[in-house]
Amino acid sequence: MNKCRLLTNNITKKIPSMASATALMTALVVVLYLGFFQDLSGTRISLHDAVEQQDDSHITPTSQISKQRHFWSKCVRDNSVESISGFDTLPDHIKNFLYYQHCLHFPMLLDTPHKCGGPKGSAKVFLLLVIKSSPMNYDRREVLRNTWAKERLQNGVWIRRLFISGTQDDGYNKKRLNRLLALEQRKYNDILQWDFHDSFFNLTLKQILFLEWMERNCPHVRFMLNGDDDVFANTDNMILYLKNLPDNNGSKHLYVGDVIKGAKPIRSPNSKYYIPTQVHNSGPYPAYCGGGGFLLSGYTALIMYNMSHSTPLLPIDDVYLAMCLDKAGLHPESHLGVKTSGLYIPDAKADRYDPCYFREMLLVHRFLSVNMYVMWHDIQNPDLNCSPSSVL
Ligand SMILES: *[C@@H]1O[C@H](CO)[C@@H](O)[C@H](O)[C@H]1NC(C)=O
Ligand SMILES: *[C@@H]1O[C@H](CO)[C@@H](O)[C@H](O)[C@H]1NC(C)=O
Ligand SMILES: *[C@@H]1O[C@H](CO)[C@@H](O)[C@H](O)[C@H]1NC(C)=O
Repeated sequence: MNKCRLLTNNITKKIPSMASATALMTALVVVLYLGFFQDLSGTRISLHDAVEQQDDSHITPTSQISKQRHFWSKCVRDNSVESISGFDTLPDHIKNFLYYQHCLHFPMLLDTPHKCGGPKGSAKVFLLLVIKSSPMNYDRREVLRNTWAKERLQNGVWIRRLFISGTQDDGYNKKRLNRLLALEQRKYNDILQWDFHDSFFNLTLKQILFLEWMERNCPHVRFMLNGDDDVFANTDNMILYLKNLPDNNGSKHLYVGDVIKGAKPIRSPNSKYYIPTQVHNSGPYPAYCGGGGFLLSGYTALIMYNMSHSTPLLPIDDVYLAMCLDKAGLHPESHLGVKTSGLYIPDAKADRYDPCYFREMLLVHRFLSVNMYVMWHDIQNPDLNCSPSSVL
């Protein structure tokens, strides 16, 4: 925007006559207009795209999805969804999803474009940790930075870390939380933040925005862990597992986690996962990896993104990503070391935080921050003595 201001000064000083003044003002408006789009979207956008967007903005049913997601401008609410039968009876968060589901581009507030050493260098990143985190979850991020998500050379390969985030709250609170993330960014350089409301039903949006970023900035990354900020991930084990894959260096399909099969849309309005027929009308979901955390190859992530262009949004992100892959004929694979619905320990008297359980795992969902540091320390202890019976 500074450039624009300089231009303004130069232009206004030189006005010779009314006619050329008009021409100059017109030019200025065009320059500001283009600058506006460039600044806010953070990506290239042609005037052609911008004009096309304006034409479409008042007719934005789902059929327009694939066309609209190629560019960004301030996205307007699609009121035509109110004519969907039963719309009035839907809970507010579902209405909101329907109103805004065509909005797939948001300006980036924080970027780390060189996280992978540029697109060409990105093959050097072996495991990229992609952690969904809301601005409020400062304590979780801080603990992860000091434990399993530490950036490091592990077993000869690089681990890198990114938190992906939207915004929370409004007005002053939103600004303060954005300032928190900006301060963290200055210190750690590990955040991607877009200016959309970070809610459960916007997680799919978050994933798509990340995949778009990844295709641009990190297309050759070998593997990724995609997960929540409240999991315990044994990243040392993940490296061992991934390095020992026969015949896959990230250039082939990999989508591994806690696989959920035969799940159907939940039609009970009280559930967090409620999906009314107005949002998704077909039968069971494809098999998917629970979103607490799963591993995927760079190859698979690019296909996911590609397929998302033609896959109508479903606001449950882990199911949605599986739908995209399903379209390409790619399926998840189960790994017993990934426990996204928690660790089941048969003996009620046993210590739930026995490091012997966690030493053998890849990932366990729902792990309190306060226990993370000790656990991460304990599982690295070479003297840790685990009897066979204490291993699940
Ligand atoms: C998703 O984010 C957009 C942009 O902030 C917002 O308008 C919309 O209401 C959000 N949707 C949900 C379901 O929270
Ligand atoms: C990964 O393996 C494929 C063969 O499956 C090979 O063509 C490619 O060069 C390898 N990539 C890297 C970065 O080693
Ligand atoms: C993306 O999909 C299109 C067809 O839908 C295909 O032509 C293209 O090769 C795909 N690209 C990748 C990277 O899979």
